Amino acid sequence: MTIYTIVYTSNTGFTKKYAELLGERTGLTVRPSGSRDVPKGSEVIYLGWVAASVVKGFDVASKSYTVKAVCGVCMGPTGSQLEEVRKKTKIPADVPLFTLQGGFDPNKLHGFYKFVMRPVLKKMKAKLESIENRTPEEELALEMVVSGKDLVDERNLSEVLDWYSGQ
Ligand SMILES: Cc1cc2nc3c(=O)[nH]c(=O)nc-3n(C[C@H](O)[C@H](O)[C@H](O)COP(=O)(O)O)c2cc1C
Repeated sequence: MTIYTIVYTSNTGFTKKYAELLGERTGLTVRPSGSRDVPKGSEVIYLGWVAASVVKGFDVASKSYTVKAVCGVCMGPTGSQLEEVRKKTKIPADVPLFTLQGGFDPNKLHGFYKFVMRPVLKKMKAKLESIENRTPEEELALEMVVSGKDLVDERNLSEVLDWYSGQ
C-alpha cells in the first residue's frame, strides 16, 4: 500500500475528526494543511470542509502537494453533492472525490462565516418548520440548523477505505 499523508483544513472541527479517524484506520500520518512536517510535493489524501460546494483549501493544497484523493466534509449526507463539488472546486476528473457528512455547529462559527450563514440558516429553518409532517431526515436537518449536530461517523469512511486499500 502506498504511504500518503493525510492533510486537512477544518473550521469547526468536524473535518479534523474525520482526518484523525482516517489516520487511525490507515496508520497514516495526519497533519493540518500547510504544516511544516509535510514536504512540498508530498502525496496526500486531502480533507477539507465544504463551503458553497467548494472544498476549502483544495486550491492551495493542490499547489503544495500531489493530491491523490479528496474528501469534502459537509452537512449534507455522505455521497451527496459530488458533481457540484467537483465542478466548483475544479478537482481533476482522475482524482477520486468523496463527500462525508460532518455536522454543523452554529455556535462555533465566527466572523465572516457567521455573517454569511445567518440569512441562509434563517431561510432553512423557516422552510423546514413549514413542513407539517417532517421526515426523520428533515427533523435532523432542523435540529442541525437550530442547535447544531455532530454526525461524524466512522462508517462514512468505508468508500474512502475501499479506495485506499486498492492503492
Ligand atoms: C459558509 C458555509 C457554507 C457551507 N456550505 C455548505 C454546502 O454547500 N454544502 C454542505 O453540505 N454543507 C455546507 N456547509 C456546512 C459545512 O460544510 C459543515 O458544517 C462541515 O461539517 C464543517 O466542517 P468543519 O467543522 O471541519 O469546519 C457550509 C457551512 C458554512 C459555514
